[in-house]
Amino acid sequence: MATSPLCRLGTPLSPSATKVMLLGAGELGKEVIIALQRLGVEVVAVDRYPNAPGMQVAHRSHVIAMTDAVALRALIEAERPHLVVPEIEAIATAVLADIEREGIAEVIPTARAAQLTMNREGIRRLAAEELGIATSRYAFANSQDELQSAIDAGIGYPCVVKPVMSSSGKGQSVLRGAADVETAWRYALESGRVKEARVIVEAFVDFDYEITLLTVRAIGASGQVETSFCEPIGHLQVAGDYVESWQPQPMSPIALASAREVAEKVTSALGGRGIFGVELFVKGDAVWFSEVSPRPHDTGLVTLASQRLSEFELHARAILGLPVDTSLRRPAASAVIYGGLAEQGIAYEGIAHALEVPESDLRLFGKPESFVKRRMGVAVANADTTDEARVRAKLAAARVKPVAGNPQPR
Ligand SMILES: Nc1ncnc2c1ncn2[C@@H]1O[C@H](COP(=O)(O)OP(=O)(O)OP(=O)(O)O)[C@@H](O)[C@H]1O
Ligand SMILES: [Mg+2]
Repeated sequence: MATSPLCRLGTPLSPSATKVMLLGAGELGKEVIIALQRLGVEVVAVDRYPNAPGMQVAHRSHVIAMTDAVALRALIEAERPHLVVPEIEAIATAVLADIEREGIAEVIPTARAAQLTMNREGIRRLAAEELGIATSRYAFANSQDELQSAIDAGIGYPCVVKPVMSSSGKGQSVLRGAADVETAWRYALESGRVKEARVIVEAFVDFDYEITLLTVRAIGASGQVETSFCEPIGHLQVAGDYVESWQPQPMSPIALASAREVAEKVTSALGGRGIFGVELFVKGDAVWFSEVSPRPHDTGLVTLASQRLSEFELHARAILGLPVDTSLRRPAASAVIYGGLAEQGIAYEGIAHALEVPESDLRLFGKPESFVKRRMGVAVANADTTDEARVRAKLAAARVKPVAGNPQPR
């Protein structure tokens, strides 16, 4: 669908309401919901556990297994949202394809994009084999023997093994030699989202830096969908999880131009409206496509401080058919706050001290349960340079101390 059917916005909780359903209501969904709420959209948040961050700011919420096709279809039919907005990958995407085809709701950006990106194989084959975009060398394997053969036949060492269905670095390992193959295979099998024994093995890309290029497909002045780009976001990943990001990441003009070209190609192949997080590896002027999220990206939390419109506001505007503005306001950085303890209903100390850091801000997501390595919040900070902003964001994050959640003193 090239243009939005949403030619007007209604009043929430009335017959004129413009209704949006978020499938996944974590910290990224929560910010999208806040952006939609500000435009008077009626928002329904869905996740697999109660009191998810986005549920706390939505008009209504539902707890279902979004991988359960019957339950998902029934919920969409009962709520009849205008837009269905996936926030996570683990969704019964065949249902999304059905409701899109039957015209029950519009799927953001498209059901096909959700289907292709939930499996590393779909998006990798589209990018590398159909669109001819540079990626790491890769192969797929259904057994340890196939994995070993693929590595021997040309992938080589070092390489990276990942379950085809996984995210946030789960089940992922870097292999330095033949001695690592068995452990990597076992780990991938244990941690994959579904118990399908299939992995991608990729040659390790020795990049100088990696970026997320936030790319927005929104209706422009022409009345047609136009593509625009945010400034590149640099980030640091530890064990497949983002710990710090900053914007803008300096790039050579050639690298920036090819990053945009790659992002344009991939996002227009996926179609629809909304924001996409295009993950790219960069070495000198060379750019490799890694993967893409057809939704706001975790490293893009930095845009809460850096841009005139955050990635969440951009997504909200784009999906509603409204114009966007991707301009950077001021350099910024983000630093993740982990739970540090495994407990329900934790508390946070040191907030005032953290916010004494110049130009800093915090988001505490309100997740009901903390794990040691669960992302519970983020600190963002602005400065004249991204280096200074990184120092500030990390300092603010470090000052926030998750503690056991005894009842709040009165
Ligand atoms: N082929 C590769 N060469 C070098 N580094 C890699 C390669 N593949 C992945 N990585 C590193 O591991 C990180 C996570 O990989 P990837 O994005 O594929 O996993 P993911 O599970 O989808 O993570 P997320 O969901 O957090 O984006 C990358 O950002 C990069 O730092
Ligand atoms: Mg990634």
